[in-house]
Order: sequence, then structure tokens, then C-alpha cells
Amino acid sequence: MSMSRIKIFDTTLRDGEQSPGVNLNKLEKLEIAKQLERLGVDIMEAGFPASSKGDFQAVKLIADTIKDTSVTGLARTTKGDIDTAWEALKGAAEPRLHLFLATSPIHMTYKLKITPEQVIEQSVNMVSYAKQRFPQIEWSAEDATRSDWNFLAQIIEKVIDAGATVINLPDTVGYTTPAEYGKMFHFIRETVPNIDRVSLSCHCHDDLGMAVANSIAAVENGVTQVEGTINGIGERAGNAALEEVAVALKIRSDYYQYDTGLKLDEIKRSSDLISKLTGMYVQANKAIIGRNAFAHESGIHQDGVLKNTETYEIITPELVGVNSNTLFLGKHSGRHAFKDKVESFGIELTDDQLKEAFQRFKQLTDHKKEVTDDDIYTIVMEIKTEAQAVSKYELKSFQVQYGQATIPTATVSLVTPQGKTLQTACTGKGSVEALYNTLSTLIEEELKLLDYQLNSVGGGKDALAESHVQLSVNGEAMNGRGSAQDVLEASANAYLNAVNRYIITKQSVKPKEVVKQ
Ligand code: KIV
Ligand code: ZN
Repeated sequence: MSMSRIKIFDTTLRDGEQSPGVNLNKLEKLEIAKQLERLGVDIMEAGFPASSKGDFQAVKLIADTIKDTSVTGLARTTKGDIDTAWEALKGAAEPRLHLFLATSPIHMTYKLKITPEQVIEQSVNMVSYAKQRFPQIEWSAEDATRSDWNFLAQIIEKVIDAGATVINLPDTVGYTTPAEYGKMFHFIRETVPNIDRVSLSCHCHDDLGMAVANSIAAVENGVTQVEGTINGIGERAGNAALEEVAVALKIRSDYYQYDTGLKLDEIKRSSDLISKLTGMYVQANKAIIGRNAFAHESGIHQDGVLKNTETYEIITPELVGVNSNTLFLGKHSGRHAFKDKVESFGIELTDDQLKEAFQRFKQLTDHKKEVTDDDIYTIVMEIKTEAQAVSKYELKSFQVQYGQATIPTATVSLVTPQGKTLQTACTGKGSVEALYNTLSTLIEEELKLLDYQLNSVGGGKDALAESHVQLSVNGEAMNGRGSAQDVLEASANAYLNAVNRYIITKQSVKPKEVVKQ
């Protein structure tokens, strides 16, 4: 049976980054971009260059670095946005622009306040303008699924004539159903006379939990490109989870005759990197990559799996790169073996960073018998993040007193970015609050805790603790993460990491501005 190749368009760094509370700096975005390249996505949308200086710099850095994947950036249908996108993307191996304008009555009337004729004119003019520079232009009809199909057919024919090479019909508000979305693409293919000159793309949001099913319905109706994000992150309920689309097509290749170019065994690593950097952890029962996706709890299931894994397991963990995560390196492991392991994650460290990582690994082996891949990965990611701050707050020491009959009190000693050591003590309703109150007293910036999470890395009573916080720093939301053997130390590290990430942003670029679309 011959399989048709479906292109994967990853928008984790653009639509995914629009998730509430997510803010990645440009080096974190580059780290994700490199992993997406290893995963084998065909196209990655690195950001929205005109939306902020930070986005511009990140898109440019990614376009200049990534060579095996086509890099694109989003733009509104204005000359300014297109020019800015060109400046960011001109160094890419294959500069590609993603232009969008809304086509639904509700968006045209209330948001854009322009007529359908003006929407056609603006789209055609800006596709022609962009064509002077970009060889590849994707044009998206925002809110396509609530647009009039005849209007869509009319505008699509014109933007193809103007030079668009890909037509994307997004389900912007996650409103459509598989049958309806499939019919819409069928209608467009039947009605638009020049449709064979372009590729069709789908882009689904998950408000009704149908983003993946809708994407596959689109593929069954002639769409050759699927857009989405890893872990399904994105605004509101998120986007179609690309790992689910790719694995569904693979596992049901008896039914669907499509495949993707994704290296499926890079899925778990991609998912882990993105959840660690964004702070958006996937739920345990998430399809494909959730912690429980391969766990069998009931006795009947366990018995069946022991007799033959296929009784209850349609996907093997190995297919998506989930290893058994058993003992990997221990007390006696050498620098060489450690370096090989770090390289196998696909993460590049400088000699100094590697030295520091090895030292922390050795410290960990003093307390933890079984050091897993996850532990090493956590150490390495922490070092990469810390390395970005030129000057930063550093925790020198801390002590927390807690007892049911006493008032929780934390004493913290902290080194400021200017190299001064400060110390004070504060109380709180619990240990973490006492610690955070003390830190916030010592730190100059205006701080407010917005969110706090604590997880264990892997299992076992000696597992590393990983904390994730969201802080408002001088009114700007910033994520921070930290790990340590102890939960309070991990919590303190996460808090300081959010402050330090804010400082890094201030050192390089202005914060993300809100863009009016
Ligand atoms: O959901 C959407 O409509 C989008 C467009 C910008 C393509 O993300
Ligand atoms: Zn979207």
C-alpha cells in the first residue's frame, strides 16, 4: 500500500507560546527549535516577528541557525509586518511567510471593521507584496470554520493567483466537527479552479476536544499539511497535539494511508523539553506521552499484558522514545560516560557547563542511589538556564523552621546581582510562604506569586523535587523552575529563577508587547 506523505507544521513556538503564562526567552526557544529539527518537523513557526523585539530576535536566531527544517514567521497583512518578518527570516534556508487575515462575518464586522471586498483586496495586495521576497507564502483565513464557504472559495482563488503557495483554513475557535471540517475542504477542492497549484493546510484548536480528530478528517479530504503543537499547548484549550496526529496515523496505518516524516522516538524528549521550559506539564493520562499512557493498573490488564503485551497495549513505549528510565549512571560513573549521556539528549554544553553538570551529578549520587536519565536531564537544563544570566541573584544559604505549634520562619542569605550579600528572616503561614516572603523582602523588584507547582522527577522516595512558579515581576508574568533534592530548596530555586529570567529579558530585549490582531 503506498502511503501519502503529510507535512507537519509545528507552531509550538508561536501559537503554543501564546498559552497563558508561557514566556520563553530566545535561547530557550532555540533549544526547542533544535529539538523540533531533530524530531523532523517539516516546518516550524518560530514566532510573530512584528509582535515584539523579543519575538523578532528569537525568529531571527532560529532562522539563522536551523537549516534542516523550513522556518516561518507569522505576519498580519500589512507592509510593516511583512518587512519585519523578512528581516527576521531572510537568513533561513527557505524563507517562508505565514500571512493571515480573518474571513468570518463576526471578525470582519466587529474586529477588523472592514468589508469582505476590503479583506480580499488587502489579502491579494499583501500576498503580491510578500511575493517579491518570499518564495513560500502561506495564507490563512482566520476563523475559516465560521466563514461563508462561497466567500472562502472566492478569496482563495484570488490569493493563489497573487502567489500564495499554501492555503490554511484554521478552526481558530475550535468550533468545527470532523465531518464538517472534512466537507469544507472537499468543497474548496471542488470549487476553487486553481486549487491544484497550492497545498492545503489545517490548523485546529481544541475547545471542544476535537482538534486531532478534525485534523485527521481534513487529511482524509485532501489536506497535505497539519499544523499543531507538541503536547497540544496553545491559547485556551490549545492546538491539535502533533504527537497524537502522527502516532494515530502510524498505529492505524491499516486504515489511513498517510505517514509523516516525524522521528517518533524523539516525541518523548520533545514533549519533556517543552513541558519543562514552558512549565505546562501534561496530565498523567495524556494520550501518547502522559505518565500513565503505558501504565496498566487493573489486575486483569496486568495479567493480559504479561501474557502478551498486545492484549492491552496498542503503542509500545519505545515507539515514542519512552525508556524504562531505570538506573543509568551511578557513584562510580566517569566523566566520559556522563558526557556521552548528555550528548545523547542532543543538548550542547560548554566545557565549563559540562564540568558544573558533572559536579552536580556527583553530588546527587551521594544522596540518590539510582540516578536516572530524567535526573541528569533536569540538572543539564538547569545549568543551561542559569548560564543565561550575566548577573543574577544567588541563594547562599537558607533555613526554615516549621512546627505545628510555631510560626513558620525562614532565614535567607542571598547574593545580589551587584555581589552584595544580604540576609533577613520573615514568617509566613507555611514553610514555602515564609521562604518566599523572605526572598521577596531581599529582592529589589516588585514580586507577586501567581502560581506554584511541585513535582517529583521520576519515582522513589529519593526522587529529585522540581518546582515551577509563575511570578509577577514588576507587573510582568515570568516563569521559573528549579530542582533540588529537597522540596524547599527546589521551591527557592524556582522563585529565584523567575526573577533571574526577568533580569535576562531586561538585559537583552524589551518585554513582550500585546499585539492587536
Ligand atoms: O488559530 C488561528 O487562526 C491562527 C492563525 C493566526 C493561523 O493561529
Ligand atoms: Zn491558532
